[in-house]
Amino acid sequence: MGRSVTLRAHAKLNLALAVIGKRDDGYHELRSVFARLDLADDVRVAPHSKLEVRNTVDVGGEDIAARAVRALADATGHEPHAFVRIRKRIPMAAGLGGGSSDAAAVLRAVAGMWEVDADVAAHVGSDVPFFARDVPLALVEGRGEIVHPLPARETHVVVVRPTLHLRTADVFNEFRVEDRHAAPHVDALAEALRQGRATTDFIRVHAENDLLGAAERLCPAIASWREAAAARGIALAMSGSGPTLFAIADDRADALRIARILRRAGLRARPHLASV
Ligand code: C5P
Repeated sequence: MGRSVTLRAHAKLNLALAVIGKRDDGYHELRSVFARLDLADDVRVAPHSKLEVRNTVDVGGEDIAARAVRALADATGHEPHAFVRIRKRIPMAAGLGGGSSDAAAVLRAVAGMWEVDADVAAHVGSDVPFFARDVPLALVEGRGEIVHPLPARETHVVVVRPTLHLRTADVFNEFRVEDRHAAPHVDALAEALRQGRATTDFIRVHAENDLLGAAERLCPAIASWREAAAARGIALAMSGSGPTLFAIADDRADALRIARILRRAGLRARPHLASV
């Protein structure tokens, strides 16, 4: 099958996310701090005589990876021919950016295979430009196409993976102007990260998300999980359009302690490392 490339496609957490307004094209203007998470899919790409995408899970409908190949083919005049195999570990429709990250990995691999350079990430999906830049931490603006890298270290986090799914479009539809409160938090967090003075306490305080209200109205269980955690002294923030929640830990021991407490409360919690 010719030379193949295997890439790791990492998940992301939105440490803080503000919805700035609605655009004429129906999308929302955002400002958000994106952090790479250690959880990753494996994406293998090889030359092929047609477009074939195999995924270890059923994504229901066309895989975003296929859209990525087509977008790059359209922009560069190539036939959209590639073999893509995705080994999925990142939960889908969870607010972790798994599909977008797979798509960005496919774009990188196929661009290398065809020896072309075209910036089509934003056409494939709003979160794709962050992954396409391949930076660990960034302030992301616009629809997602403006990516300002930030200096990153490693921070221990606990990720709570609910069993249910939320469609991004449904959460944005449910969003109301009155939900807006996170913009000053995003700005404060981005500035502190830029200056290298964001402590774990500081990150916890500013981990606000304007989509939380909408996600909780569509899925009241999110509020129950956050209340159960709060009753045990643990603040859970939401990533993206949810329903994945996360806690910022002080260190590895703290992450193990938080994960244990949340699991006892019935939540599916696991320690991870985020690039913050
Ligand atoms: O760009 P992507 O396909 O990931 O977006 C999925 C849906 O989420 C869009 O159809 C839109 O309804 C909503 N969205 C939005 N504003 C953004 C990103 C996504 O309204 N910045």
